[in-house]
Amino acid sequence: ISLKPYNTFGIDAIAKQFVTANSFNDVKSILSLKKELFLLSGGSNMLLTKNIEKLVVHLNLKGITTSDIDENYVLVTAEAGENWHEFVLWCISKNYGGLENLSLIPGYVGSCPIQNIGAYGVEIKDTFYQLEALEIATGKTHIFNNSDCNFGYRNSVFKNNLKGKYIITKVTFKLTKQNHQLNISYGAIKSALENNQHPTLKDISDAVIAIRQSKLPDPKEIGNSGSFFKNPVIDTESFKKLQEKYPEMPHYIVSENEIKIPAGWLIEQSGFKGKRFGDAGIHKNQALVLVNYGNATGKEIHELAQHIQQTILQNFAIELEIEVNVI
Ligand code: EPU
Repeated sequence: ISLKPYNTFGIDAIAKQFVTANSFNDVKSILSLKKELFLLSGGSNMLLTKNIEKLVVHLNLKGITTSDIDENYVLVTAEAGENWHEFVLWCISKNYGGLENLSLIPGYVGSCPIQNIGAYGVEIKDTFYQLEALEIATGKTHIFNNSDCNFGYRNSVFKNNLKGKYIITKVTFKLTKQNHQLNISYGAIKSALENNQHPTLKDISDAVIAIRQSKLPDPKEIGNSGSFFKNPVIDTESFKKLQEKYPEMPHYIVSENEIKIPAGWLIEQSGFKGKRFGDAGIHKNQALVLVNYGNATGKEIHELAQHIQQTILQNFAIELEIEVNVI
């Protein structure tokens, strides 16, 4: 079957064998086949550059459960196949706080820990409690708590040592029931809530949704995988040299000797914003997002990405790292 409806980039790659797992038991029986597997969750952080020979497993486990800790906190567990944004909206409807800044991120719950999804000053590691996963080699269930996951910026143990070794089946968050710790530090959210003395979880979610819709293309309309590259971190000395040449360069201090530069700025400065090469392009409102206008192949998008990487290296001596999984 064509995987076009199963990846937000809308790449028309073919799966030779495809199965949907609707339950934990489905996943167990698929594991007992002892086949080589290709795990497919929301397909929102991958670029398919070829057809898939392995058995494609679409992880579609559904369900949400809760368990109260005390009057302030609740544990909320979602199965891997829950749509992330719908899950966030569900939490907001129950007045459970902690995920509102992560509204409208495409994808499923099960893959959010892999890259520690983040936006507008919040990452899932801030509220992540634990996850349940099946070890592919043994079929055994394991629980990973927050520190087991080794979360970093768009990073976790599941992108490193344990890459391809586990199937995440459910994820638990520790959310607030009252005294919510709202995060409105991000500039655009702050301005959106300027005249609001007591913003609710829903107010923040609405602001995030409006900001995202104004900048980021809706994958249902234009294929994309969000930020294609990570924001590079450079040492303070290299930064100072660059700053002499580009005094207006935006930047965030990461540590005493590290500075993060928005890759979107570097790409825009290099003249790529809004450019189109066939059906592959760079989004007009956010240069960090590569887009598929319809029939681009994964290879074409990947070639464009490499062209951008080379240009940024030439112009700024900065290496851009691809954030999306290139397959
Ligand atoms: N900028 C430009 N031109 C552009 C885009 C950005 O000059 O075309 C500059 C602007 O100075 C802007 C700054 O970059 O102020 C930051 O841009 P933005 O707020 O859009 O955020 P970002 O750093 O480009 C990151 C995440 C996004 C997340 C936003 C908001 C990464 C790789 N990306 O983007 O995450 O939504 O912050 O928190 O860290 C994703 O991972 O897929 C993703 C969309």
